[in-house]
Amino acid sequence: MEKEKIEVVIVGAGIAGLATAACLTMHAIPHVILEREDCIASLWHKRSYDRLHLHLAKNFCQLPHFPHPPSTQTFMSKNHFINYIDNYVDHFKLQPRLRCEVESASFDEEDEKWRVAVQDLETGEIGEYVASFVVFATGENDQMVVPEFQDMETLPGEVIHSSSYRNGSKYKGKDVLVVGCGNSGMEIALDLSDSGAKTSIVVRNKLHVVSREFLSWVMPLRKFLPIYILDVLLLFLCYLKYGDTSKYGIQRPKQGPLHLKETAEIYPVIDVGTYQKIKSGDIEVLPSLVSIKGNNVVFNNGISRQFDAIILATGNKSSVKEWLKGADYLIGEDGMSKQKYPNHWKGRHGLYCAGLARKGIYGLADDALSIADDISDLLKSHDAKKLN
Ligand SMILES: Cc1cc2nc3c(=O)[nH]c(=O)nc-3n(C[C@H](O)[C@H](O)[C@H](O)COP(=O)(O)OP(=O)(O)OC[C@H]3O[C@@H](n4cnc5c(N)ncnc54)[C@H](O)[C@@H]3O)c2cc1C
Ligand SMILES: *[C@@H]1O[C@H](CO)[C@@H](O)[C@H](O)[C@H]1NC(C)=O
Ligand SMILES: *[C@@H]1O[C@H](CO)[C@@H](O)[C@H](O)[C@H]1NC(C)=O
Repeated sequence: MEKEKIEVVIVGAGIAGLATAACLTMHAIPHVILEREDCIASLWHKRSYDRLHLHLAKNFCQLPHFPHPPSTQTFMSKNHFINYIDNYVDHFKLQPRLRCEVESASFDEEDEKWRVAVQDLETGEIGEYVASFVVFATGENDQMVVPEFQDMETLPGEVIHSSSYRNGSKYKGKDVLVVGCGNSGMEIALDLSDSGAKTSIVVRNKLHVVSREFLSWVMPLRKFLPIYILDVLLLFLCYLKYGDTSKYGIQRPKQGPLHLKETAEIYPVIDVGTYQKIKSGDIEVLPSLVSIKGNNVVFNNGISRQFDAIILATGNKSSVKEWLKGADYLIGEDGMSKQKYPNHWKGRHGLYCAGLARKGIYGLADDALSIADDISDLLKSHDAKKLN
C-alpha cells in the first residue's frame, strides 16, 4: 500500500479547496488536493445547467488574491466563471490529484498525525496520506436529496434530478413539472418555459422572491444600516417591481429576506425572470405534491395532472459525515458547519472545514484565507519551539 507524507491534505477541488490551496501556496506550505471527479470545480463543469449565471455581483464572487478585472460583467455567466477558475488554477500552479476519493480520515493520537485513506478511482488502488493538517472542502451539495413519493417509479415520463438538467431543448411542447422552488428550480422553470415546454412549478413553502439587482444594491449597505431597515428597503423595492406575490401562489414569510438569511440561513429566491412568466400564466404554480396515482400526479388542492417529465430541484446535501469520524463538534447532522460564523472553520488537531457555512463564494474565500493563516501560524510557532 502506498503511503505518502504531506503537511496538508485538502479534500475536494471545488473552489473552496482550490482557494485554500492557493492561500497555502502563498505561504509556501506543501499540500495535496484530492478530488473524486476527473476535473476541478465539478459543480460548475458538470452539475449545473447551461444558462446559469452567478446570483451575486462579481465582487462577492471572487477567490483570494485574484480579483476580477473591471471589465468583467457584474453577473458572470457560468462559462465566464469557469474560465476565471481555470485561470486561478494556472496562476497558482495548482495540481489537484483527480479521480482520487477520500474514504476516511482519522486522527492518530499516538503520532499526532491524520491518516487519510484514499482510493484511486482509475486503478482501484488504495493508498494513505499521513498529514499534520486536513482541510475538507467537499461542498454543500455532494449528495442528492430526492423526496420519496410512493409509486414514483410508476410514472411513465422521465424523472430527473436538477443536477442532470442542462437545457430545455428536448422538452419543447412537453408538459414538465419542476418540484422545488429554490434558485435552481425557479431558473430551470424559466429555462423550460423559454424552450417551449408547458411548465409548472411546485411551491410548497412561503418564500421571498427578490431581484438580484435590488439585492446587490442593498447588500453593500450592510456595513452602515441594520438588517431590518435593509429588509424594509428591499421589500419596498420588490413590491414596486412585483406587486403582491401571494396573488400568484407565492406567499412571503413574515420575517424579512435578509433577516432570514442572517438568522436561519434561509436564502431568498433570486428572480431572473421567472416571476414575470408566473404572472403572465406561462408558468403555473402548483401546491404540494401529495401522491402519485398511475399516470397522475395529485396536488394538495385536489388537482391531478399528467406530465411528460418531472425535474426534481429538491437540492443536495453535504456528505462529509460519511467519511469523517469524530468531528461531531464541528459538523452538524446536516453535514454543515456547526460552530457559529465566523469561527466555524477550525476544528481540533489540525482539522479544518472550508465552504460549509452556507455563505457562498465570499464565505468560502474567507475560510480559505483564515485556514491558511492559521496553519502558517501553527507551523511557525512549532518551528520556533524546535529552535529553542
Ligand atoms: C446551481 C448552483 C448555483 C450556485 N450559484 C452560486 C452563486 O451564484 N454564488 C455563490 O456564492 N454560491 C453559489 N452556489 C453555491 C456553491 O455551492 C458554492 O458557491 C461553491 O461553488 C461551492 O464550492 P465548494 O468548493 O465548497 O463545493 P463543490 O464545488 O461542491 O466542491 C466540492 C468538491 O469536493 C469533491 N469531493 C467531495 N467528497 C469527496 C471525497 N470524499 N473525496 C474526494 N473528493 C470529494 C467533489 O467531487 C467536489 O468537486 C451555487 C450552487 C449551485 C448548486
Ligand atoms: C447532487 O448529488 C449527486 C450524487 O448524489 C450528484 O450526482 C449531483 O451532481 C449533485 N448535484 C449538485 C448540484 O451538486
Ligand atoms: C442542450 O444540451 C445538450 C446536451 O444535453 C446539448 O447537446 C445541446 O447542444 C444543448 N442545446 C443548446 C441549445 O445549448
